[in-house]
Parts: sequence; C-alpha cells; structure tokens
Amino acid sequence: MTKAEDRATPRGTQRVPANQAQRAPPGSPKPAAGYPVQPRAGVEAIAPYVPGRSIEEVKRDYGLNDVVKLASNENPFGPSPRAVEAAAAALGGVHRYPDGASRDLRAALARHHGLERENVIMGNGSDEVITLLALAYLDEGSEAVLAVPPYSVHRTAVLVGHGKLVSVPLRHYTHDLAAMAAAVTERVRLIMVANPHNPTGTAVTEDDLRRLAAVAPEDVVIIVDEAYYDFVDDDLRFTARDLLDRNPNVVTVRTFSKVHGLPGLRAGYGLAHPDIVSTLDRIRPPFGLNSVAQAAALAALSDSQYMARVIAGTRVGRARLLEIARGHGLEAIPSQANFVLMRVGDSTAFTESLLRLGVIVRPGENLGMPGWVRVSVGTREELDRFDAALDRAAVDTQERVRGSDG
Ligand SMILES: Cc1ncc(COP(=O)(O)O)c(C=O)c1O
Repeated sequence: MTKAEDRATPRGTQRVPANQAQRAPPGSPKPAAGYPVQPRAGVEAIAPYVPGRSIEEVKRDYGLNDVVKLASNENPFGPSPRAVEAAAAALGGVHRYPDGASRDLRAALARHHGLERENVIMGNGSDEVITLLALAYLDEGSEAVLAVPPYSVHRTAVLVGHGKLVSVPLRHYTHDLAAMAAAVTERVRLIMVANPHNPTGTAVTEDDLRRLAAVAPEDVVIIVDEAYYDFVDDDLRFTARDLLDRNPNVVTVRTFSKVHGLPGLRAGYGLAHPDIVSTLDRIRPPFGLNSVAQAAALAALSDSQYMARVIAGTRVGRARLLEIARGHGLEAIPSQANFVLMRVGDSTAFTESLLRLGVIVRPGENLGMPGWVRVSVGTREELDRFDAALDRAAVDTQERVRGSDG
C-alpha cells in the first residue's frame, strides 16, 4: 500500500503501522507511568547521573550542623577572587543576551594555548563539549571506544549520540591505550580518554598517547579530557593540545570547574581543528555560555596567583589523602587528580557511616568501582575531619553489617 492510500483509509479503520502496534486506542485507560509520550528507543537504557549529596541535604537528613563534602572533586579553596569580581560586574548586564560566540574568552584561550580563536569551542561545562562531539560524530551503528569504568559522562554522551560502547578495561587502574587502539574497527568514530582519569585519578604517558594518535585512523575523533590537567605532577604533565598540528583529529577538552574553581558557572572548552569547531557550532545552543560565566572565566584565566595556590594545595591534599588511607590500612590508588580512590570493602555501608559523621564521600558503586570510595581533596581542616571519621566509620560499618547479618 502506498503512503497516499494509507492516508485515504477511513478514520477508525486505519491500519496500525508495525512500529505503533503497541499504541493504546484513544480513550483507553492511561498506563501508570510514562503516558502518553515515550522517549526514543535507547533513552530508557541511559542511567541518570547520580550527583554527590549536598551539604544541606545531609545536614537535614542526619540532623547535623557541620558537614564536610569530599564527594564531587570540587576545588575546596573557594573561587578566584578576580573571577568573583568580574562575575559581579557582569550581573548588571544580564538583561542582554550573552555574546553567543564567546569572542573575548575564546580569543584569550587561543592566546593561552598558542592557537587561533577558530580552534576553540566553548561549552556549558566540558561535559557539554563532550556531548556535542558525540552528537556530531556518532550515529546509529557507529561505535565509540572508551575505558571501563569510564568517566560516566563519556558513557552517557555515547548513548545520547546513538552510538555503541566498545568498552576496554583499565589496566593497573589506567587507560590501556594499546588495547583501545586495537579495539578500533571501521565502525568506530570516537575514542574517549580522560587524562587523568575519573574515577581512578591515573594518568597515561605521553608516549602511549602519541602512539594511539599515530595508529588511530584519521577519521576517528580522539577526545582527550584534561579536566585535571593542572594537578598532574610536573614530570608527567603533557597536553594532547601538542598533538593537534600532526593529528587534527585530536580534541583536547578542558574546564574552568577544577583549577579555576568555577563549577557552579559551567564553563568548559575544547581545542580542536577549525572544521570540528565549526561542525559543533552548527548544533550547539546558540547563546553558548551565559555572560556571567564568560566574564568570570576570562578573569580566572589570568589569575595565575590563585591557580598556583590551588595547584599547590591540591597536591598537598592528595598526598595527605594517600597517607590517611594507608594510615588506616586501606589500599589507595596514587592520583594525579584532586581525589583519591580507596578500597574499603562494603563501600555503600562505609559511605553511610561517614555520612552519619558528617563527611560526604562518593561510593564506588556509582562509579563502576564497587568496594572503593572516591574522596576529593579538601582543605586541611576538612581532611582532619575525614581522618578522624575514618576509624569511627570502620567500627560503625562492622557493627551495622553484623547487625544486618543477624
Ligand atoms: C574527567 C572529567 N571531565 C569533565 C568533568 C566535568 O567538567 P565540567 O564541570 O566542565 O562539565 C569532570 C568532573 O568531575 C571530570 O571528572
């Protein structure tokens, strides 16, 4: 039957197209959930992001006055004062739309990285840049190679982009770039690497990344997410930006959420070949970053004193976290980021015990690392609190596990 004939069928006697055979006839009772509009196939399979619990929520739920949050890899040292000043000044202009092309900020970032403005794409957080890349370069039947466990946003972006996951296990808690290269088939369009990785905090070597870029087909986009770049030890630190001249398919993703201390404003960016930037320009929301975020990010970028303080404090904090873990007999993974993963056994029970003591950490179950907890760097006082809570939490966990067994 042609389409025209189909349309000519009298109302009420229409044939039901095969893909709508499950549809209930008009007037039938509504199913309990999801009626009447259903998302496209595949959406139900995407797990919603599970954020760290907020300080306010924990205070309320546990009746506490003083709660420490070490759960979201935030910068515990407060925002850059210059950024705050610039954000406050920008508020007076919010009756205007922002500069949708973020011209000044992109120009400053291009100078900072020795590139052109056409090499810089902005996003509402680097998460948006990653999602845009997946939307632009994946389609039905295409694949993306990523680590397992991945940074969860990478995984979600692939599924949102209708792609299939090709998951390559970490090796020694680190991306196995050789195995990821070997997993590339002709259906692969994207490779995603977080360097350093979240949730493990490990970094790949420059040689391994250069080798991956050299062997990956040039029509595969390699995303290197460098959210924690600034915290990497000097002798291990290198940026995928330096591969761009030779490998125009490498996209380096950075954020203002970590070393610049602005996660609440949502500003991230990618450094890429101009053709990739202009491709993403076609699909991104037209106004890009809000004007307050643009102003704050611009000011933060030049606040090198603040950044130096944050980097130093973060490195001290993560060394202390490792010490604390080992002091309590917990295995911990040496980290190049602003958090440390520790093996605690029953991480859900352990997290709960810490919550009762007013310390929020992230259970590994949500991060693909059951049995571990991820603890973010805090101020010296916050880490003292964590240290003191650990012993009590261990006892508390054992008691509760024993109680629920009996
Ligand atoms: C590897 C990685 N990439 C990106 C982000 C998020 O950055 P943004 O706040 O810019 O979206 C995070 C945040 O925790 C992260 O761990």
